[in-house]
Amino acid sequence: MIEASAPAKAILFGEHAVVYGQPAIAVPVSDLRAFATAEPNDSGLRIAAGDLDIPVNIDAEPVEHALALTARLVLKALDVPAPAVTITIRSDIPIASGLGSGAAVSTALARALCMAVGRTPGHEALNKIIYEVEKIHHGTPSGIDNTVIVYERPVYFVRGQAIEPLTIGAHFTLLIGDTGKSASTRAAVASVRGLYESNLIVIQPILDEIGSVVEEARSAIKSGDVPAIGTLMKRNHELLQWLTVSSPELDALVTAAESAGALGAKLSGGGRGGNMIALVTDETCSQVEAALRAAGAVHVFRTEVR
Ligand code: PMV
Repeated sequence: MIEASAPAKAILFGEHAVVYGQPAIAVPVSDLRAFATAEPNDSGLRIAAGDLDIPVNIDAEPVEHALALTARLVLKALDVPAPAVTITIRSDIPIASGLGSGAAVSTALARALCMAVGRTPGHEALNKIIYEVEKIHHGTPSGIDNTVIVYERPVYFVRGQAIEPLTIGAHFTLLIGDTGKSASTRAAVASVRGLYESNLIVIQPILDEIGSVVEEARSAIKSGDVPAIGTLMKRNHELLQWLTVSSPELDALVTAAESAGALGAKLSGGGRGGNMIALVTDETCSQVEAALRAAGAVHVFRTEVR
């Protein structure tokens, strides 16, 4: 049996502004993963995920499902017929919560399908395919999710440019707090677009300042200045509040984490629900985790950035 996987991701700095050409920083969350297994069958290519069990007709148009589209794009890129396998998807990543679940599931599926036809997908080719699939989830994605998930390494990302690896001067620990409220990234991105178009004079300086925060964060991460990273997370969260993409639940978790000793905290991803991140030390980790749960987090994940 073939098995492939892909990690979740967290955006540390720069979400939303990245759509407008500002830089952003994201890291893989390797302990939280999506998995795809491929097993031979006698009925052609099928994809099974939870309650879903769909045959994939590679000639079908229009595209009705992100997973079917992933399979079709992979087979087209490899120029091979569909193998007779069932690909079963399983994921530990909460959906619609800013952790990149859609991109991770598609990446795991694409890898399993490549392996089922005897190929090993290169990162660059795979990244292009997953970006196409991301358009279904997000409308106009910047490409940061697919990039950090496919390459599975911390990235400094600018839309349309070659990815730059991020140098990490000192390891640090993040807690990811899940509000349990799923939220549509597509809707959040569209609403920021509406604000941008109707109020450019106010919104452009906010986007520019997020860009400056990302540049400072890149230096702080490189030099291992962990307290400075925390201060910049606080600033980034305030700027995201101005973009109206926070929510009462996210703000409650951010405040709880900071009151319990986190060096900084912010929402992560599309916002309006989903997840936030808090920067903790070995000394503050357990008290911040308890505070997040008390403030309503339905899951708390710990991840090391290294
Ligand atoms: O909600 P997520 O984790 O998929 O993050 C989306 C990040 C945005 O900057 C809001 C959109 C994008 O395409 O970059």
